[in-house]
Amino acid sequence: MRRKLAAGNWKMNGTGAELAEVRTICDTHQGAGVEILLCPPATLLHRLSEAASSAIATGGQDCHKAENGAHTGDISAGMLADAGASYVILGHSERREDHEETDQDVREKARAALAAGLKVVICVGETLEERDAANTLDIIAGQLAGSIPDAVTGDTLVIAYEPIWAIGTGKIPTLDQIGEVHDFIRSRLEQRFGSGVGRSARILYGGSVKPGNAAEIFGVSNVDGALVGGASLKATDFSPIIEALEKA
Ligand code: 13P
Repeated sequence: MRRKLAAGNWKMNGTGAELAEVRTICDTHQGAGVEILLCPPATLLHRLSEAASSAIATGGQDCHKAENGAHTGDISAGMLADAGASYVILGHSERREDHEETDQDVREKARAALAAGLKVVICVGETLEERDAANTLDIIAGQLAGSIPDAVTGDTLVIAYEPIWAIGTGKIPTLDQIGEVHDFIRSRLEQRFGSGVGRSARILYGGSVKPGNAAEIFGVSNVDGALVGGASLKATDFSPIIEALEKA
C-alpha cells in the first residue's frame, strides 16, 4: 500500500509570519492518516521544520548537484537535510524554465539528494502546445527517462505530474486525462525499475489543486496525492485538501 502524500510547495512565498499557518496545520492534523509535506523557501526551512515537529515532513524546493564548494547562492542537499528536510522537490517546471534546468541536471541533483538521505519529488509535465499536438505522453516519457537516477527506491521516489498550463491558472485537465498520464507514469516506472519500486513509488498530481476539486482528483487511479502551490499557503485551504485525501 502506498502512503498518500499531501505536499505543499510554497515557492517564493512565506516569511516568519506564515509559521502560524504551519502550527494550525499541525494542530489540526496530528495523527493524520496521510503524510503531510511542506516545502517552504530555504530561509524558512529550519524554523518550519522545528515548528512542524513530527506531524509534518519538510522539504527543499531545489538543491545543487555538488556536496559543497564554490557555488555562490546555491544550497546542497546535505544542507537541506541539516536544516530538517527529509524531501526535496526537483525539476519543477519553474526551475526548468527560469534556470534552464535540463533532465540531466535534475538527474544529477536527484543523485546528490539521495546520497544525502533525502527523498526526491521529481516533477514532469507538458506545455499546452505539447498537449494540443498530442505529444503529452512522449514528453512525459522523455522527462521520466532523463530525470530519474537509477538509485531510487519505492520509498525515496515521488513523481509529481504537473501540466505546466494547469499551474496557477485555475485550469485542470479532465479526470480522464489525469488518469491517462498517471497510469502511463506507473507503467513506465514498472518497466524500468520492476514491479517492487514501480508499484510503491508515489505519483502526485499538481496544478490548481483546490479544496473544491481535490476529492475528484484523488478519486483517479494512480493519484497518490497532490503537490499543491497556492492553496498550501493557508491552513484554511490546505486542510480541506488533506481531509479529502484522507477520505479518498
Ligand atoms: P498551483 O497549485 O498554485 O497551481 O501550483 C502548482 C505547483 O506548481 C506546485 O508545485
